[in-house]
Amino acid sequence: MDELFWNELLAKTRIFVRETMLCTDPGHDMWHIERVCRTAVLLARKEGANINIVALAALLHDIADAKFHQGDEEKGPALAMVFLTQNKVDEALTAEIVYIVRYLSFKTSIGFSPVKSIEFQVVQDADRLDAIGAIGIARAFSYGGFKGRPFYDPDVVPEKFSNPEAYKNSQAPTINHFYEKLLLLKDIMNTTTAKEIAQERHDFMLQFLDQFFEEWA
Ligand code: ADP
Ligand code: NI
Repeated sequence: MDELFWNELLAKTRIFVRETMLCTDPGHDMWHIERVCRTAVLLARKEGANINIVALAALLHDIADAKFHQGDEEKGPALAMVFLTQNKVDEALTAEIVYIVRYLSFKTSIGFSPVKSIEFQVVQDADRLDAIGAIGIARAFSYGGFKGRPFYDPDVVPEKFSNPEAYKNSQAPTINHFYEKLLLLKDIMNTTTAKEIAQERHDFMLQFLDQFFEEWA
């Protein structure tokens, strides 16, 4: 596939994603997709991953997030598959992108270890980087608000989830999500470049939590 094919494909993908994504919470909107795509391309340059594949997978990674589709985990991979096939992407690359869309997310990684190409690693790191730091904090409270959760409840202690179902069904206050997911992400970044970026964002969340509890008290 030459550069012209790729440019047209990425442009069409952007339009498809914008039209297909539901009106979700502001933490899972087209801006999330564009941030993840930008970060993924930046990581790809540093880590020697294929930039076009990474951009395509990043654009499609939340095409039908199960959280906003009654828990249907198959919808995203299925939509990506149809879109890529219709747009004449060859079978091998289609399979590669669909695999990334299917196994990228934090919850599917609980209790399952997918085989990760460097492109998979880079897109996953980019998605995880968008879950931490200042934007990560904003996204967590946006989702919590969307779900009608309290910020914090001193009587509800954070849990350690050992299966995706328990994680998905959690109704816990938003502050718990920092301990249940966000603060864990720094140590599970795949690439060195993402680990470096994650450290600063992680420290910022710790500072935020200190201040939050100080004000609460
Ligand atoms: P993935 O899409 O990688 O499976 P999640 O579904 O856990 O990841 O969440 C994606 C983002 O949605 C999180 O980074 C966070 O911003 C928000 N989010 C998900 N679950 C919660 C929650 N229980 N409380 C607050 N924010 C959440
Ligand atoms: Ni995402």
